[in-house]
Amino acid sequence: MTSTGAPPFLIGEAMVGGYGGADILNGCTIAVEKGEIAVIVGPNGAGKSTAMKAMFGMLDLRTGGVRLGGEDITRLRPQERVAKGMAFVPQTENVFPSMTVEENLEMGAFLRRDDFSPTMEQVYSLFPVLKDKRRQPAGELSGGQRQQVAVGRALMTEPSVLLLDEPTAGVSPIVMDELFDRIIDVARTGVTVLMVEQNARQALEIADRGYVLVQGANRFTGSGKELLTDPEVRSTFLGG
Ligand SMILES: Nc1ncnc2c1ncn2[C@@H]1O[C@H](COP(=O)(O)OP(=O)(O)OP(=O)(O)O)[C@@H](O)[C@H]1O
Ligand SMILES: [Mg+2]
Repeated sequence: MTSTGAPPFLIGEAMVGGYGGADILNGCTIAVEKGEIAVIVGPNGAGKSTAMKAMFGMLDLRTGGVRLGGEDITRLRPQERVAKGMAFVPQTENVFPSMTVEENLEMGAFLRRDDFSPTMEQVYSLFPVLKDKRRQPAGELSGGQRQQVAVGRALMTEPSVLLLDEPTAGVSPIVMDELFDRIIDVARTGVTVLMVEQNARQALEIADRGYVLVQGANRFTGSGKELLTDPEVRSTFLGG
């Protein structure tokens, strides 16, 4: 709940579930307000990617639910959630390496029946290097450029919510800063952003809300600033 009492724009509430064996998500709740950036951090194997998959409908919850704009979408397939305005960039295999940059972006627009060329121009103005490389196979690009393709592909549906699982994985600090700046740009256009980040400190610096997830449960929740200054969060999860 916000101070106004309005429900969050996107919420995965009391999520419990996994991949058929033991539960991976043990009741965690993740929420993000419209136009804000929320960040999930936590140790390897905490269930961060699983939580993202659950919110996108790639994982059936045993209990708990997901609501978008007040609507219960718990039972919707991922494709139906895309139609509702969600876009998801998975942690791995998030581009088609043998396809060109432009073909990757076209794939992102596969659900659209209207003219998506203005959206492609927007993606190219956000990531100018992709326009230069639009005829090149995505697999030939640098790691940071491939992540731009993945984010750009997700933007092709003009989503209202963008889910990003470790968008800065494996990139240099400079490229990471640039990607975060572009993610801020996207959020400023009104897109709600929920992302998982390994670069916890830098991600929390741009986060309106942060979640520390441990063993599928909420360990700490607060504004990005609150988590960055919390002594326990600092010593345990941010390296002091
Ligand atoms: N497809 C799968 N089938 C079975 N178990 C899985 C699957 N994917 C992940 N797991 C298990 O679920 C747990 C949580 O994994 P998850 O990928 O959600 O963690 P994470 O917090 O994203 O970790 P990382 O920081 O390494 O990305 C782990 O124990 C993992 O082995
Ligand atoms: Mg993960």
